[in-house]
Amino acid sequence: MARLAVNVDHVATVREARRINEPDPVIAAGIAEIAGADGIICHLREDRRHVKERDLWLLRKIVKTKLNMEMAAVEEIIRIALDVKPDVVTFVPERREEITTEGGLNVLAKLDYYKEVVKRMKDAGIKVSFFVDPDPEQIKAAKECGVDIVEIHTGHYAEAKTEEEADERFLQIKRSAEFASSLGLKVSAGHGLNYVNIKRFREIPHIEEYSIGHSIVARAIYVGFEMAVREMVELVRDF
Ligand code: PXP
Repeated sequence: MARLAVNVDHVATVREARRINEPDPVIAAGIAEIAGADGIICHLREDRRHVKERDLWLLRKIVKTKLNMEMAAVEEIIRIALDVKPDVVTFVPERREEITTEGGLNVLAKLDYYKEVVKRMKDAGIKVSFFVDPDPEQIKAAKECGVDIVEIHTGHYAEAKTEEEADERFLQIKRSAEFASSLGLKVSAGHGLNYVNIKRFREIPHIEEYSIGHSIVARAIYVGFEMAVREMVELVRDF
């Protein structure tokens, strides 16, 4: 049985389309928990394009399950995380020009820096996850940095143009999840997952948690946020 953590960034994106106070990602988080979500995720970007500090502080106050803050490993955001103290931080690469996170962290390229950042978080009692591509070298490097969790990037699988490519990408994710688990890491996965492409993940019992945002917010337009979360919870609980 896997868990679902709901990313509420896209609720904030809709709010920011008008720069007013609705819809509110904080209210969405409460509804997601009522619908059975096991965690809430938000990404405080350096450019604050969707989630704001106000959201993060309020989420810290109201989330009863587990708050996971996605973030770039930059000093300004690290200080905010150390103040807010989410249950988990997930380090992701961040580029201002990107529409959404495009790939996993290059942990190997900045091993010493990441080791120090992980230590700062863990000293503050915060669990650490690295968002990585399904690449054993990066997973090994994440382990060396002392992370608790690796979140495997599923975006390339989700975007595959052919069935063969999807199969190949899926196999990479499966092998990487098995490898990370064999190193004693907790494994989660996310990016681009929806109500259809998630179904085959029942073949990967090593993945304990899924991080899903866009497809849930998209479905919520048709069926309501609570129902959209409930349907996804049912899918992942069945794994
Ligand atoms: N995991 C990470 C690290 C992400 O950056 C995102 C996107 O914010 C997600 C998961 C969720 O992706 P999606 O919105 O496509 O479900």
